[in-house]
Amino acid sequence: MVFSSALNLLKQRLIDARSIVVLTGAGISADSGIPTFRGADGLWRTYRAEDLATPEAFERDPRLVWEWYNWRRELIAAKRPNSAHEALVELEKRHERFWLITQNVDGLHRDAGSRKLSEIHGNIWMVRCTQCGCVEENRSIPIAILPACVRCTGLLRPHIVWFGESLDPTDMARCDKVLQTCDILLIIGTSGVVYPAAGFAAVAKRAGAFIGEINPDETPQTALADVSLRGRAKEVVPLLLHGR
Ligand code: OAD
Repeated sequence: MVFSSALNLLKQRLIDARSIVVLTGAGISADSGIPTFRGADGLWRTYRAEDLATPEAFERDPRLVWEWYNWRRELIAAKRPNSAHEALVELEKRHERFWLITQNVDGLHRDAGSRKLSEIHGNIWMVRCTQCGCVEENRSIPIAILPACVRCTGLLRPHIVWFGESLDPTDMARCDKVLQTCDILLIIGTSGVVYPAAGFAAVAKRAGAFIGEINPDETPQTALADVSLRGRAKEVVPLLLHGR
């Protein structure tokens, strides 16, 4: 399907939808200048995210993991939401039944004004004590290495869901519910290789939803998509709202 026909079809589906779910990944924030995980600029030193974002990596070398997060915190703090984040806020305003699921921990959707939102992998500005479990906001840049809990002096870790860890059951229940009942799932800027989010398209498709994908590249979800728009989030997502 040529781009303009695919765009018009997706726009019409959004206009007609009674319930919309959007799933985003690092690609939407790439347009704000934050490197994706699996892109060429996603490496930190010689490490891949999978080498650092694990409980084992933190147990082995918490200093190294915190250095990586300090690098990412500094990078993210200077970035602002882009026109794709803003267009999703507008979509939320226009539709009563709307839910945004993001794998991004950068907080840019929240900064843009999204409120009907699950940050399923957590948020980089939240920390959790490995001893007493308390969770709090911490926006220090850099964070003191190694950071200690103010209540019990236990070691703090990022409040982020790492590889091998389970997602918050409340978030998962919410995601499952909205995916089972949506008319349309819009997937923006994710490589679709990290579960459980990588399985969300199949869940929505089985439940009868129309699937739209926005990504410059093909992904494993492309085969499930009814419409695939090849392009950058900040250019394509705002087009979905034009002329309405
Ligand atoms: P990836 O880095 O795996 O994939 C980013 C996707 O964005 C790719 O499919 C790119 O083609 C696409 N992309 C790049 N630039 C884009 C643009 N301007 N507009 C739209 N799309 C663009 O990131 P995720 O799929 O988010 O988990 O990765 C999933 C999870 O793996 C992350 O949440 C993170 C990571 O390890 C944790 O940290 C737990």
